[in-house]
Amino acid sequence: MKVLVVGGGGREHAICWKLKQSPRVTELYCAPGNGGIAEIATCVPIKATDIEALADFAEKEKMDLTVVAPDDPLVMGLVDLLESRGLRAFGPRANAAIIEGSKVFSKELMKKYHIPTAAYEVFDDPAKAMDYIRQRGAYPAVIKAEGLALGKGVIIAKDEDEAEAGVKEIMEDKKFGDSGNRVVIEEFLTGPEISVLAFTDGKTLCPMVSAQDHKRAYDNDRGLNTGGMGTFSPSRVYTPEMEKECMENIFLPTMAAMNAEGRTFKGVLYFGLMSTKDGVKVIEYNCRFGDPETQVVLPRLEGDLLEIFEAIIDERLSEVDIKWKDGGCVCVVAASGGYPEKYESGKEITGIAEAEAMEGVTVFHAGTKLDGGRLLTAGGRVLGVTAIADSLDAAIKRAYEAVEKVRFDKMHFRRDIGIKRY
Ligand code: AMP
Ligand code: GLY
Repeated sequence: MKVLVVGGGGREHAICWKLKQSPRVTELYCAPGNGGIAEIATCVPIKATDIEALADFAEKEKMDLTVVAPDDPLVMGLVDLLESRGLRAFGPRANAAIIEGSKVFSKELMKKYHIPTAAYEVFDDPAKAMDYIRQRGAYPAVIKAEGLALGKGVIIAKDEDEAEAGVKEIMEDKKFGDSGNRVVIEEFLTGPEISVLAFTDGKTLCPMVSAQDHKRAYDNDRGLNTGGMGTFSPSRVYTPEMEKECMENIFLPTMAAMNAEGRTFKGVLYFGLMSTKDGVKVIEYNCRFGDPETQVVLPRLEGDLLEIFEAIIDERLSEVDIKWKDGGCVCVVAASGGYPEKYESGKEITGIAEAEAMEGVTVFHAGTKLDGGRLLTAGGRVLGVTAIADSLDAAIKRAYEAVEKVRFDKMHFRRDIGIKRY
């Protein structure tokens, strides 16, 4: 089969890496891909948001399957576009991707179908939003832009001044464009956060193994929020009892709710969860594989990812027996110094082959490019140095031994990935 993967980060590298192991994938393409993906797939210089050009390419090259990994093309309707041209595509249609594309939609869905989440109100007027926050007088206040904002559209304001600045930034300065036309103001929850990705064809839902993300730039969760500085799987707090609770109260009700709304979700549904004193609640939904969660989840998947993708498209997921490896997997992100603020690119990267020579180690590229024979940094998050082992602790040790072999100027990584005990 000829397969095209859309996207160009660490998540897409992990998806390509897993698909490449399928005996049925004979030709693998990735748009736009990156320096690491280029070693296993043919990279095509089309942006993930250029959905017309992607559909033209898939049609011209007669792709047997296109896997749409990032949020924007899903929300923009790339899957619908491919289907309208008679092509097979993996990922939710736009009418289901809205579960991530609009926080107002997802909050209303949860309220209507009694899925546990933080209490909230929606505002389209900044003055009214501020009146509500003042009147409530409960801090921290959580302010969320309605639409996609690269994971940065959430402001946790510790006092009135910060809330005012946040509302202004989102709704008046339009820092995230039209994503900030409306805001969701919600109750602040506390507790450990767990990411659970699930395969679903709208009839069956199979949760993957759990993961946890480290979002802050520096050790002990200090510094700014980032796209994710590292992940580990499984979570230590996500017990089988908790999984059962989530299946009953969250996962299956969400699948049913989307069906009831005439928005059947087929693809990977990502549940961002928080284990609070009142039970597990949904913090957010994503309509896709998480990044960098995918980098620690897919190495634990036994068997053929292509087979699962095809079963979801054909709505026969119930026939597939999905198995996971025991033990643990850890991904340490090597970032450019200064990220998530200003950083430099174009630094030569060395040591990847030495790291990958270690048992159980794979280096997923997030922001790299090939320049002649040299591999250069080309983004804030550069690499995800990933190790799988018989236990989480062994995987942590292995990932850190591997990351020490990799070098580029001003490389920064957290030293405590996987260490959090909650
Ligand atoms: P989101 O994009 O909705 O996942 O939010 C980004 C991050 O903000 C989450 O991973 C949480 O750490 C935090 N967050 C979001 N909503 C809440 C909430 N209601 N209470 C506490 N923290 C939250
Ligand atoms: N790791 C969070 C996300 O993919 O949105």
